[in-house]
Amino acid sequence: MANKFSYGTLAQGEFFTDRKEELAQIKQYLDSENHLTIISPRRYGKSSLVRKCVEEIGRPYVWLDMQYSTSKASFTTQLLKAVLAQYPMERLKHELRHFRILPTATYNAVTNDYQFGFQPSEATDTTMLEDVLGLLQKLSTPKNKLIVVLDEFQEVRNIDKNLDKQLRSIMQMQSGLNYIFLGSQEGMMLEIFERKKSPFYHFGGLMRLNKIPYDEFYQFVLERLPATPNKEELTKDILSFSSCHPYYTQQLAFEVSNQIEINRIQEDVVGEAIQATLRAHDLDYERLWETFNNTDKNTLLQLSRNEKPLTNRDVATSTTFSSLKRLIKGGVVVRTEDYALEDPFFREWLKLKQTPFRRRPVLKIS
Ligand SMILES: Nc1ncnc2c1ncn2[C@@H]1O[C@H](COP(=O)(O)OP(=O)(O)OP(=O)(O)O)[C@@H](O)[C@H]1O
Ligand SMILES: [Mg+2]
Repeated sequence: MANKFSYGTLAQGEFFTDRKEELAQIKQYLDSENHLTIISPRRYGKSSLVRKCVEEIGRPYVWLDMQYSTSKASFTTQLLKAVLAQYPMERLKHELRHFRILPTATYNAVTNDYQFGFQPSEATDTTMLEDVLGLLQKLSTPKNKLIVVLDEFQEVRNIDKNLDKQLRSIMQMQSGLNYIFLGSQEGMMLEIFERKKSPFYHFGGLMRLNKIPYDEFYQFVLERLPATPNKEELTKDILSFSSCHPYYTQQLAFEVSNQIEINRIQEDVVGEAIQATLRAHDLDYERLWETFNNTDKNTLLQLSRNEKPLTNRDVATSTTFSSLKRLIKGGVVVRTEDYALEDPFFREWLKLKQTPFRRRPVLKIS
């Protein structure tokens, strides 16, 4: 039987659950002239939700993941390429002729793909950016209103320090299309959309995406686990470990299914699945661990033991507070009711590393 869980790619089709209210809410925005910002911690399902929504609506959409833009010029050419994914080159050629600087388009016959380029300089970058955003508006028609999704938008300031100002000054003059901004670093996104001095201050509606509710996820996991006598128990254990985090729930449920179906494990299946995942990611966690300074390592170890770092008398509160702030910014720690490690597998890995090695009792043979 094929594994019925998926993680690491956008959840679509049968792998997608719930989010009915959020879908309806986004559709309402898209029916209006408004723009929308969606914020959540990493891997809660923002991209999956918006992809499902725009696919269901059936309107043309341009989707750019800004994580891979390294300059204003590359943002602009990648956006142009994203436009090409939605509209045929024949249609674009006509529009590109009106650009003030003609971009070069190199066709790769092997990948059946175009690469756009132009001579970058401060002046040409800005002109090109204006023309590409102008193109978005031109392509949008009342009957086929364009949706532009800028995913991982928190990167805007890392790409170029003036990009947010320039985008905003162009976008505010536009009408007849919807922008959706997705972002996972809450602090950074709030800085962009909620700080009065920021160019994007209150640019559109703001939506916070939460985890998937327990009952919905319980049903979803229960229905998809392979046949085994204690499915209800397993489902509860999976959700208790993952705390209903969409990605980690799917990851653990995927591994539990493998343990049942492939390894034929019958006892402590969830524990076995966790151990298998830790073994598979040992090197990744080792590398991640090496990136922290000693203060942060100490904070992480305390969190893995469920201790409250801010109440530790050995370390100054201000030092711990800065450490938590740093770790939250890096996405390793999240703050909901309290501070917690974002990845429950990493938490388990840290616990494991703190467990003393136990020598097997030596049997005395008399
Ligand atoms: N509606 C859903 N139903 C079931 N699983 C989901 C759902 N949404 C997300 N997931 C799970 O969470 C994972 C992450 O989803 P997605 O990439 O959409 O999140 P994201 O918030 O965009 O993440 P990032 O912050 O990394 O961009 C998916 O691969 C899937 O395993
Ligand atoms: Mg995403």
